Parts: sequence; structure tokens; C-alpha cells
Amino acid sequence: MMSDRRLAHDDDDKYWESVRARYPAQQPLLNLNNAAVSPPPLEVEQRTVEALRFISANPDVNMWSKLDADLPAIKQQLAAVADCDPDEIALNRNTTEGLCTAIFGLPLSRGDEVVVCEWDYPSMRAAWRQREQREGIRVVPVDFDPMDSDEAIVAAYARALTPRTKAMQITHMLHWTGRLLPAQRLCALAREHGIASVVDGAQTFAQMPLSFRELGCDYFATSLHKWLGAPVGNGMLIVARERIGSTWPLLGPFDPSPGVDKFDHWNLGTYNSALQAGIAPAIAFHREMGAARIHARLRALTRHWVGMARRIPGFRLHTPIDGDGLGALSLFSIDGTDARRIERELRETHRIHTKYREVRQLRGLRVSPHVYTTLPDLQRFVDALEEVAAGARA
Ligand SMILES: Cc1ncc(COP(=O)(O)O)c(C=O)c1O
Repeated sequence: MMSDRRLAHDDDDKYWESVRARYPAQQPLLNLNNAAVSPPPLEVEQRTVEALRFISANPDVNMWSKLDADLPAIKQQLAAVADCDPDEIALNRNTTEGLCTAIFGLPLSRGDEVVVCEWDYPSMRAAWRQREQREGIRVVPVDFDPMDSDEAIVAAYARALTPRTKAMQITHMLHWTGRLLPAQRLCALAREHGIASVVDGAQTFAQMPLSFRELGCDYFATSLHKWLGAPVGNGMLIVARERIGSTWPLLGPFDPSPGVDKFDHWNLGTYNSALQAGIAPAIAFHREMGAARIHARLRALTRHWVGMARRIPGFRLHTPIDGDGLGALSLFSIDGTDARRIERELRETHRIHTKYREVRQLRGLRVSPHVYTTLPDLQRFVDALEEVAAGARA
């Protein structure tokens, strides 16, 4: 832990300052909720605005004949980051759309079972429940504590399997607490049993090095507006080649196709090609830093602020701090205080934006810096937290 803290201080601060200079200023609030949506770097924003103006000049031709001509190249670049084939990638609006494509598109029959946990994203749980209510599949809950070991979590999923299990919903990193789940082992478990694995990669793609091939899942969906820095409204669905043919698209495609393009947004109605024009510059920006360096920096930022916040009486972290899985997201609470009040006072009095999260027995604030977050930003946050917590206890 010490080495990470030192890294946060010494690791070419000038480099990270230069990264920050390429982002729009976050104001009036210090934004510590990048896990929800991140600002695009300025060059991405500029390219997107230019593309929007280009579209206005001649919408039909400029969108569909010109900007969309870049689609194959964008998929090639994304495939290089995700380690999959370009023809396994569909572009869409976000993780929700990608996962719903998999959830509603997977052929299942009455009585088939799917394993879902309470820590999965609420929209995905709701989508599976909808199939339960409409079609009579069974949603089987798997129970574990996010502070459990990887072994215990894999064992919990294994216990939930029956001969009727046909699919497993796997959240790669829980958005509640930032816990990284052993997704590769869970996908291997699914594969051993001939079960489809649907991975929610909203919080891991571009936050850390990631290989679709190594993960070994059938479906992987993510939002490109979180850690990649593409404009808001860009998502990616990766479907393993052997699953493409049997998976239904969410909407009726214009050009019925046996290939992955049946899931592409261009084939499912008019969308905004200007947003897509921001993907390539976002990838270029991301590759300049590299996923490993980004992940190391985000982990160091988390350890840095948590190390300072431990001086606050009653401070309690609900995210494993020591493992390699730690990244930008963590959840904390302060004993004897109301986290909603702390969130409000941080925002209203100190202009700092964190996110209140409430799930099962947990109530706390999620904090998620990004690569443009600086050490003085985190110092400001922890100083404000100490003051607010003291007031909340008084
Ligand atoms: C784990 C997880 N899944 C899914 C989503 C939904 O992402 P989007 O709203 O971009 O579809 C989020 C958003 O925060 C998330 O954290």
C-alpha cells in the first residue's frame, strides 16, 4: 500500500497534470462520480461538436455516407482494445442496451433457469425478471457478500447451478462498491456446464486491461462514456462468434443479417453519428496512456484518499483495498452518521459530488475519481469530509 501511495505522489505528477489539462474543467462541482459518466477529453468533445455541425450541413449524406463509413475502422480499433474480432462487435448506446440485447435475445424456454445476484445492476435484474414474468423462465438468486473471497464467490455461483441453468449474469465490477468479481473463473464455470455467460463490463472496460478472449464469456457489454472517455451515448456489445446466429436483436434490423450488424444501432433506427465520431479520438487518447497505467493510477488515487480518510473517526470502507482488483470505485460510510446528509453537505457546502448508494445492508457514499483527478482534489475532498462528518456526529 505504501508503494502505491508513493506512486501517487511521485509518479510523474507533471504527466498527470498534462492529462488533466486536456479535460474540460469540472465546475461548479468537483466530480467524484466518474463511475456514472465521465467527461470526454476536450479533443473528443471538439471532434464530436464538429461532427454534429457537419451533419447539420447535409444530414443524410454526411451521416450515413460519410461519418458512418468510419464504422469498420472504429470496430477494428475497439477490437484491439478489447481483444476480440471486429466482427464480434456491435455499437449501441450503452451497457443497458447491450445487456438487454443479450438478456432478451438469448433463446430460452419455460422452466429454464438463469443465475442472477442482488449486486447486479438493477436494470439487468429487472430485464431477467421481465422474462420470468412473460415467459416463465426462473431467476435463481445467488447470495454472497462483496467482501467475500474470490473462492467463496465462485463457490456461491456453483451452488446455484442446476441441470436447468441456461445462463449466468456476471457483473465484472459491482457498481455499488467497486468490488471486482472473479469473472474469468465464473465464465469458465459457466462454460464447463454449457451455460451462457452474460458479462456486465460497464465498469471494467478501459478502466483496466481486459481481454474478451481471456475472459471467455459469451456476451460482454459496456458503456464507452465511462472509462474510455467517448461522448455520452456510446456503448459496445461483444458477442462471441458462435452465439451471434442464435441471438435475437432487441429491435427489428433494417437489413436482416446473420452477422453482428443486426445488433448495431445504425441497423436499428436513426441514431446520432456525431456521437460515434468521438469514439476514435477517445481510443487514441486512451491508448496514449495505456490501460495498465490508467488502472495503476486510479488504484493509487483510491488508496491515496482512503489512506487520508482513515483518520476520520468511524470511517469504514466497503471495498477490498489491497487486491489487484481495486480501481477507481469504492464505497465508504462513517459510523453513526447518515450518508445522505454527508452527500448533501459535501455538495451544497463544499461543492463536491459523491454518490449515495443503498443496497441490502449497505448505505454509503461511492467515490470514483478519474485520470484527470489530482491529489489536491482528493485532499480537498477528505478535508471537507472530515469537517462534514464531525458536524454530522455532533
Ligand atoms: C455495473 C453497471 N452496469 C450497467 C450500468 C448501466 O450503464 P448505462 O447507463 O451506461 O447503460 C452501469 C452504470 O453505472 C453500471 O455501473
